[in-house]
Amino acid sequence: MNTLTEQKKVLRIENLSASTNEKKILEGLSLEVKPGEIHALMGPNGSGKSTLSYVIAGHPKYKVETGRIFFGEKELLTLSPAERSKEGIFLAFQYPMEVAGLSLSQFLFASLKARNQNLSPVEYSKELKTALAKIGKDASFASRHLNVGFSGGEKKRAEILQLLMLKPQLAILDETDSGLDVDALQVVADAINSLRSPEFSALVITHYPKMLELLKPDVVHIIANGKIVLSGSPELIKKVENEGYGWLEK
Ligand SMILES: Nc1ncnc2c1ncn2[C@@H]1O[C@H](COP(=O)(O)OP(=O)(O)O)[C@@H](O)[C@H]1O
Ligand SMILES: [Mg+2]
Repeated sequence: MNTLTEQKKVLRIENLSASTNEKKILEGLSLEVKPGEIHALMGPNGSGKSTLSYVIAGHPKYKVETGRIFFGEKELLTLSPAERSKEGIFLAFQYPMEVAGLSLSQFLFASLKARNQNLSPVEYSKELKTALAKIGKDASFASRHLNVGFSGGEKKRAEILQLLMLKPQLAILDETDSGLDVDALQVVADAINSLRSPEFSALVITHYPKMLELLKPDVVHIIANGKIVLSGSPELIKKVENEGYGWLEK
């Protein structure tokens, strides 16, 4: 990586404050992610982790009061949710939606097309097969209606399948690992690790030390009361594991 690339930020959040239903949730949050880095975001329940992912994705339910978000050189807050996705931001939801009448495969094909990642049907089938193998599923999984009747673990695998197919520049994974058994955790971590490259960055929201052990994030952030209170090396994970979040109030 040359010096210029090193200085670049894929994501730069400056002094972000956001609210929903008149309730202030994010209050002066700042965060930077460089190309090729995987960042972990940890924090107590209700600290604003999901809100941050929704605000980055552009969910209309959240009102940005102050602050700016840059995605590369672009001002993210001026873009619609669809434009943000097209630019290369992928959000894996904590609670994936069920969509009857649309197969996972059709959905993936349409998503790729919407992002101008046009693959021929043959290339698409090939890529889908490879991605399915990575999540431990076969073609029948992709022919099922999106998330309908999927187990918790299958919904999370479907999110990871999307991630593998779309190869976004920035992935935000909001507790994609919650409720997964150790084998499924391994699948999720392997999939994310397989995308590691200077062109891929991720912000992974998780509570699981096991997930963090498998992912080996470059930077760990602790969020509390709507802002980042500490950023540092993965050593922070051990502190949270041993001491919880009580020390934050001191
Ligand atoms: N739609 C909403 N209406 C009112 N309060 C909300 C809404 N969404 C989130 N909150 C509140 O905002 C805070 C942060 O929520 P959230 O971002 O989901 O936290 P986390 O993901 O860190 O657990 C919580 O106190 C939550 O109750
Ligand atoms: Mg949450």
